[in-house]
Amino acid sequence: MIKFQPQQVDRILIFDTTLRDGEQSPGATLHIDEKLTIARQLARLGVDIIEAGFPFASPGDFKAVQQVADQVGLENGPIICGLARATRQDIKAAAEALKPAAHHRIHTFIATSDIHLEYKLKKTRPEVLAIAAEMVAYAKSFTDDVEFSPEDAVRSDPDFLYQVLENAIAAGATTVNIPDTVGYTTPHEFGALIRGISENVSNIDQAVISVHGHNDLGLAVANFLEAIKNGARQLECTINGIGERAGNAALEELVMGLHVRRQYYNPFLGRPPESEAPLTNIDTQQIHKTSRMVSNLTGMLIQPNKAIVGSNAFAHESGIHQDGVLKNKLTYEIMDAQSIGLGDNQIVIGKHSGRNAFRARLQELGFDLSEQDLNKAFVRIKELADKKKEISDRDIEAIVKDETQSQVIGGFRLERVQVSCGDHACPTATVTLYTPDNQELTDAAIGTGPVDAVYRAINRVANVPNRLIEFSVQSVTAGIDAIGEVTIRLQQEDKIFAGYSANTDIIVASAQAYVNALNRLHASTQQPAQSLDSDPLAEQTVHA
Ligand code: KIV
Ligand code: ZN
Repeated sequence: MIKFQPQQVDRILIFDTTLRDGEQSPGATLHIDEKLTIARQLARLGVDIIEAGFPFASPGDFKAVQQVADQVGLENGPIICGLARATRQDIKAAAEALKPAAHHRIHTFIATSDIHLEYKLKKTRPEVLAIAAEMVAYAKSFTDDVEFSPEDAVRSDPDFLYQVLENAIAAGATTVNIPDTVGYTTPHEFGALIRGISENVSNIDQAVISVHGHNDLGLAVANFLEAIKNGARQLECTINGIGERAGNAALEELVMGLHVRRQYYNPFLGRPPESEAPLTNIDTQQIHKTSRMVSNLTGMLIQPNKAIVGSNAFAHESGIHQDGVLKNKLTYEIMDAQSIGLGDNQIVIGKHSGRNAFRARLQELGFDLSEQDLNKAFVRIKELADKKKEISDRDIEAIVKDETQSQVIGGFRLERVQVSCGDHACPTATVTLYTPDNQELTDAAIGTGPVDAVYRAINRVANVPNRLIEFSVQSVTAGIDAIGEVTIRLQQEDKIFAGYSANTDIIVASAQAYVNALNRLHASTQQPAQSLDSDPLAEQTVHA
């Protein structure tokens, strides 16, 4: 059964693709447990549809979609969606992976722009028209909820686009998604395209119009908001705007834009301007937490001035602003920090707090830990409380993240790290690691600084060729006793792997973050991906 009948959609549906398009950001690769953690949080956030992955892409992706379908795709939960190219093998894999979900959707796509037809697919327009209809019908044989995307729609000939969409809807598509694959369009142009589709696709009333867009020119959110004014009712977006190249439209910006300016947008949905009914199903108070979680797990840092979720988004620096805000918040604030879940907490954690208080605070922060993870995090919090008087929510988040991030089974384990350095010393590090086959190995190295020495020593032991391309240390809170969070990225051939760790000792955090990234690299070598470099549709032509 379709969860949202096209004719009954009277609000904006939020389709989250953090786990699919978002995960296509270089270095954002997530483990299955991390995907599940994010999927659960997306369900708490209230997204309508979770695009959990691309099942045919690799056995790991297949399994992740299957697990999300099984554990998050509950009767009153979100629709779980899987991406598939317009081929039988992709659609079959998606259908199989999605089976456990109470509500599932197959999202199939084929390019429609002449540039993609000529150079990528090597197909004619009539061929693409026929494939789109045939593959939508094939997907429909597995589920009645089928979404179709004409890839690179924005650069496609509008008349051809209308024809493809009409055929796809006639074949059973219940959502038609209009992608700005290359992030090229402008708000006015995109609005006109959506209006053109509403007016020229004869059976458009049988499908929800969705939009998907990349942020190459920084216009994705503005384009989507204009699309809503012209009939779009589903937005495909990601947390923190992560995704391919410059990323996708950011969920938090779209949702808060619609929330803060609902009087402006209400009439476009046929409501009176003063209607207080929410325009989306999102629980905005979960936004901050979801954003932090995605940033921590993907290693994609959030710029401080990022709208809604940047660390400066609610900070007032100038004296004039501070004075105004103290007198009345409305002088310089258009939304309340509490509306995105930042704000006053009820329970304060310190040296004398017990396990129950800690559990309650974690629940307030939205963490739902197993007993084992709770115990591990509690031990670390107690250790931290001995060093630091006040423990902030950010400290708790960092520790929980560090303790609960999935350890690659059979990966490297950091046993000991020791450095000696100073202005008259040559930075030297000694490191002991357990290798994947459980051998304890120790080695030492010198470097340009203590972290460099540690990484060189780890390299001597681990012997995994890679290039460190990013290293960042940030203090979680102010003060000399702050926890340091280290995020790194390393590259092997064309693949990028992120690592994260948090510790009051930044050398230990640096070593652990490096080991975590090496383990992701190691895990990827155990799991061969299907080749998606060339489109199988094009290959069929070559072989024919
Ligand atoms: O950007 C794009 O065109 C996509 C499609 C698969 C929807 O991600
Ligand atoms: Zn995309």
